[in-house]
Amino acid sequence: MTQDKTDRTTPAHVAFIMDGNGRWAQARGLPRAAGHQKGAEAVHAVLRHAQKIGVRYVTLYAFSSGNWNRPPEEVDNLMGLFRQYLKSDVKELIKKKVRVRFLGDKERFDPDIRDKMKEIERDTAAFEDFHVAIAMNYGAREDIVAAVKRIAMDIFDKQYLVSAIDEQRISDSLSTSGFPDPDLIIRTSGEQRLSNFLLWEAAYAEFYFTPVFWPDFNEHDLDAAVEAYARRDRRFGKVARG
Ligand code: IPE
Ligand code: IPE
Ligand code: MG
Repeated sequence: MTQDKTDRTTPAHVAFIMDGNGRWAQARGLPRAAGHQKGAEAVHAVLRHAQKIGVRYVTLYAFSSGNWNRPPEEVDNLMGLFRQYLKSDVKELIKKKVRVRFLGDKERFDPDIRDKMKEIERDTAAFEDFHVAIAMNYGAREDIVAAVKRIAMDIFDKQYLVSAIDEQRISDSLSTSGFPDPDLIIRTSGEQRLSNFLLWEAAYAEFYFTPVFWPDFNEHDLDAAVEAYARRDRRFGKVARG
């Protein structure tokens, strides 16, 4: 497949592991909640800039299925923030014609949050230029388990044969279906792990780790990540370019 220069230098899909809210707050002697608030605010500028530089798909890891194991006060605080974000800030995304979808099992959220998520997906379903997926109660392994169940049910219903299972069908059965695989995965706060994010989809992703805590991550940090990405030689198993 031939790729022009823009293809190689601008990632089509950037996924963010937005980490470090708690430590950002701690470093300032503030409660962790203040870090989450500031972290939610940081999302706007990053999305705006991603769109401006030609990224077409963004995935944001907002709350993992493992995050329910945090102290109840922190989980409550995060739910309050989601409520606020979904009710006010997301309106801005709708105004900007951003197609929004949520990854992860919605059923674990309170009904008002769940309904709002579905409403936003419905209200932005016709937009096509810029796509944002927000992973909430998401875990890649759970997503794979759900995909396996879906495929097994289809086979049970005789929709296709076992021999028809291929990589594309698995990709299409995940909650990320329709998005290209992430080209670039950025994790803030210095941690260098996936924490159950996009395990299948990340097969050939480039990784970028920065010590910057998520609430401080801005347009310049995104530019730095994209510049680093542009210098990478993505080989997909082939021989290096000369
Ligand atoms: C990321 O920041 C936000 C969520 C996981 C919800 P953290 O809350 O994980 O911040 P640290 O890692 O404790 O600093
Ligand atoms: C991963 O961050 C999840 C999100 C950023 C939403 P965590 O802070 O929960 O991950 P671990 O526990 O350090 O691996
Ligand atoms: Mg963390």
